[in-house]
Amino acid sequence: RREKMKALELLYQGKAKSAYLTEDQDLLVLKFRDDTSAFDGEIIEQLSEKGAVNNQFNAFIMSKLSENGVPTHYVERLSATDVLVKRLDMIPVECVVRNRAAGSIVRRLGVEEGMVFDPPLFELFLKNDSLHDPMVTEHHVEAFGWATRREMSRMHELTLEANTILKGMFDKAGLQLVDFKLEFGRFHGEIVLGDEFSPDGCRLWDKLTGEKKDKDRFRQNLGGVLEAYREVAVRLGIVLDN
Ligand code: TMP
Repeated sequence: RREKMKALELLYQGKAKSAYLTEDQDLLVLKFRDDTSAFDGEIIEQLSEKGAVNNQFNAFIMSKLSENGVPTHYVERLSATDVLVKRLDMIPVECVVRNRAAGSIVRRLGVEEGMVFDPPLFELFLKNDSLHDPMVTEHHVEAFGWATRREMSRMHELTLEANTILKGMFDKAGLQLVDFKLEFGRFHGEIVLGDEFSPDGCRLWDKLTGEKKDKDRFRQNLGGVLEAYREVAVRLGIVLDN
């Protein structure tokens, strides 16, 4: 079993994580790196300890989602920066839910930051940095064959379920879950949540002060990026290794 969990050759290198093959065809090792990117990889900086913090954060969230009925690729954390996951056939579409307006929707539609969406707004983006992740619809997903209509509707359903679970969890920690992005893949025919959930891929505002506690601190040069990530983790009850 130990041998099975060993990282072998590099399968691919993303902007913040690297994926390695293992002896088991169905398992990968993901390594969370300290690289932090913004604006579709235009800016990349190292933030010390981010990989380790996000690995623990992601393990906690993925476990909660699994416990609450959202199938995920998460198997177990192997070390400070490494996690064992199921190998998915990834769908190149990013599922975003917005509870309040921030980021691209503010620029695209000229609404005020903070505007509430009730019910939450669901959006899709093609995962393609050179095209700057253009917004697409469920019709594009079907027409281009990125996923079937059935798969798309399952991703939609699971993303909204995740929002309900996570919104409640962050609320108890004094944080508003403003928006987040999920990526899914296929595992033996089933739609399963892949990639990661960390402050790199969501927006979290302090309920009392409105302070940003997520990657917008990096995008907007606000400083204290890792301090904010750590604070969110501690507020959720995560006991950080260092
Ligand atoms: P957006 O406001 O840039 O469209 O992003 C919405 C949310 O999704 C935000 O929390 C950031 C996250 N996101 C990513 O993490 N990576 C991406 O490539 C995109 C498009 C969004």
